[in-house]
Amino acid sequence: MKKTTPAFTLSKEAMITYGYEVVDAIAEHFDNMREKLPVASGSREEMDDLFLEDIPAHPLPPETVLQFVLEKVMAKSTNVAHPRAFSFVPGPSNFIGAMGDALASGYNIFSGGWAASPVAAELEIVTITWLLKLFGLPKKKGGGIFTSGGSMANLTAIATARRVKCGDDFSNAVIYMSDQAHSSNIKAIRTLGFRKDQVRIIPTDQEFKFGVSKLKNAIAKDRLLGLFPFCLIATAGTTNTGTVDPLSELAAICKQEDLWFHIDGAYGGAAILAHNGSTLLKGIKKADSLTVDPHKWFFQPYEIGCLLIRNHTWLKNTFTEKPEYLRDVEGNTSEINFYDHGIELTRRFRALKFYMTLKTFGLNAFKEAIDYNIELAEQVEDLLRNSRHWEVISPATLAVINFRYNAFQKVLSEEKLDALNQYISQKVIASKEALLVTTVLNKQVVLRMCLINPRTTLEDITDTLSLCEGFANEYLEQL
Ligand SMILES: Cc1ncc(COP(=O)(O)O)c(C=O)c1O
Repeated sequence: MKKTTPAFTLSKEAMITYGYEVVDAIAEHFDNMREKLPVASGSREEMDDLFLEDIPAHPLPPETVLQFVLEKVMAKSTNVAHPRAFSFVPGPSNFIGAMGDALASGYNIFSGGWAASPVAAELEIVTITWLLKLFGLPKKKGGGIFTSGGSMANLTAIATARRVKCGDDFSNAVIYMSDQAHSSNIKAIRTLGFRKDQVRIIPTDQEFKFGVSKLKNAIAKDRLLGLFPFCLIATAGTTNTGTVDPLSELAAICKQEDLWFHIDGAYGGAAILAHNGSTLLKGIKKADSLTVDPHKWFFQPYEIGCLLIRNHTWLKNTFTEKPEYLRDVEGNTSEINFYDHGIELTRRFRALKFYMTLKTFGLNAFKEAIDYNIELAEQVEDLLRNSRHWEVISPATLAVINFRYNAFQKVLSEEKLDALNQYISQKVIASKEALLVTTVLNKQVVLRMCLINPRTTLEDITDTLSLCEGFANEYLEQL
């Protein structure tokens, strides 16, 4: 018992020095981002060489650990907020959001129940209500919850849909989605214990939109078989092509067939802020539940996804469990315990970063950024269409565009074109200059850009296309 300072404690001066170094590093990261390369790579062997060791029993000076982390961890991570990170759905984070997260972690605020932190619950209610209003969902009756991301929001939605529509027996229940729905939906369905034969993957049309007549046929067939169609998952901004399903038509089918209407707008939902957002996402307000991820096109650092719901009691009726040890903190009905509205009990204070970013920059900054991103993708489409080398495979839609190098002067087989575009992507990534991966559309390997970063300029794109053209020539010379 000879220890005098409690465990895990630093002096105030040491905390300040350490904290300033961390903030300096983050500020430098944002300020100097463009000068750095977006891509980091490393084999398992290389990573093991850097990090594999026995669990350290004895302390190291905090400064030593911090320097090691800054040099070996932070500097060697792929930067998804970089202006030339075009792939997946990038994470164009912002400094205020990052600082909000630092505060939430620093104070370690429990965001599960009202009694533990009324302020955290209130800010979640306030920010969720802002989102409900943006999407035209009922502000009073409606509700929602912040989750770790879109996957958890979709899981929460489908669990709720099942409880409301099926009760305890879901053995005959059938769920519908298109072949362009995000994989997290299937994952959620499997996690919830549905069998494979309870899922209908409906083919999309030529524009990658939900095939409505195929859907109607599938529902009719399932009813004839005595099955129970209960839920439809539409997408507002598919990950591959940015396509918005025909939401109004699908809503009408759901109404007629008494299906739960879930819309996965994890990345694309933010387009509601575009000047023509209500046209782009027409029908979105008809959702029973809607996924939108602040950590995508609302520029928040990971992890903050969101599920919005038409009636907040649906969440409460699905997720409330009352163990004895939570008896004393129940509160009244207007004081929401978010542990009753979702899967997690202990939750970080996710609303804070989003609240601080919105208050600091104002909604108009978000609107301008989203308009900018959509227009930038349209400019890129024009540029590609006017070039001899490039072929647009799916047009600029909600800031996503797919294209491929197609050397029209040489007639290449489809296999060779696939290999050529795969080669371009591999070489670009190996150069670390841009994060540009392929996807597959209509069985063709294509390059995909998701341009939701307001820091990305047209020059970032023309530079990347020139780089691609250089690699394409290299490939063609080898033929
Ligand atoms: C349409 C869509 N839904 C769901 C997800 C999953 O979100 P998350 O990665 O935050 O779990 C994504 C991710 O890109 C997405 O694009």
